[in-house]
Amino acid sequence: MKILRTIAATRRFRSQARGRVVLVPTMGALHAGHAALIRRARSLAGMAGSVVVSIFVNPTQFGPKEDLSRYPRPVSQDQTLCASLGADAIFHPPAGEMYRADFSTWVHEECVSGGLCGASRPGHFRGVTTVVLKLFTIVQPDVAVFGLKDFQQCAVIARMVRDLDLPVRLVFAPTVRERDGLALSSRNAFLAPEERAETPSLRRGLLAARAAFLAGEGSAAKLVRIVRGEISRSARVDYIEAVDSATLQPVRETKHGDTIALAAFFGRTRLIDNIQLR
Ligand code: PAJ
Repeated sequence: MKILRTIAATRRFRSQARGRVVLVPTMGALHAGHAALIRRARSLAGMAGSVVVSIFVNPTQFGPKEDLSRYPRPVSQDQTLCASLGADAIFHPPAGEMYRADFSTWVHEECVSGGLCGASRPGHFRGVTTVVLKLFTIVQPDVAVFGLKDFQQCAVIARMVRDLDLPVRLVFAPTVRERDGLALSSRNAFLAPEERAETPSLRRGLLAARAAFLAGEGSAAKLVRIVRGEISRSARVDYIEAVDSATLQPVRETKHGDTIALAAFFGRTRLIDNIQLR
């Protein structure tokens, strides 16, 4: 497995690659959710193709009061995991390789990124689209794999790829969870034990709302109330919304395929989750 620290080395790797190149963009601190994406990438690339995992804690998607400096960076553990999953290369650039001091060009998706997490994290998706476009132009993958845990991120990237005619196929993989339903996230490590104990209530709420939808309840307001009713009182809900899965516009009456998405704080740790109504 190659460790690529520069854009030039990555371009050389790309030009020598035979077969399909599949990219898994990450910020590192890899867990079983990331591992599932890398395994999926390996099977999409086949024997002849190449799997590239990018590990880059992207400063431009963190707000000024967010956790950039304390974001975990267990580099050698991440490398061992990537190697064991059959990745061919890790693209792991220093921040200065991706952003020059006078960097001034941004990708700003103006519709899908506005609500949900975009409303409470201004600038977050501008950082995500910009870095993902850079990763696409540096690695030039045929396929890129993202996780549906970050449902709005998937929708924003899909819109960017469509609008800018980017020659990459997107694959979205299901959320990997703990046994009690908590979606795996690098941020779960920040939870105190008493906070961690309350987090399965997110999944319970979403499952209860989906069960109500499947039993005939269509009102978005009622489904949102069902989710809220399950979520532990000690959590601070940021948002719970029923939206159209492609446009992310809020709906009043839900239909098959819509999504309920939420974000909630347990102490200082902000967790997100979602469920599709199907
Ligand atoms: P990061 O949070 O490291 O996530 C990398 C990828 O792993 C994303 O596609 C995310 O949706 C997926 N992922 C995270 N937890 C998952 C889980 N429990 N099950 C399945 N997939 C999961 O998302 C980012 O990094 C960044 O925004 C990035 C796209 C790399 C741009 O900087």
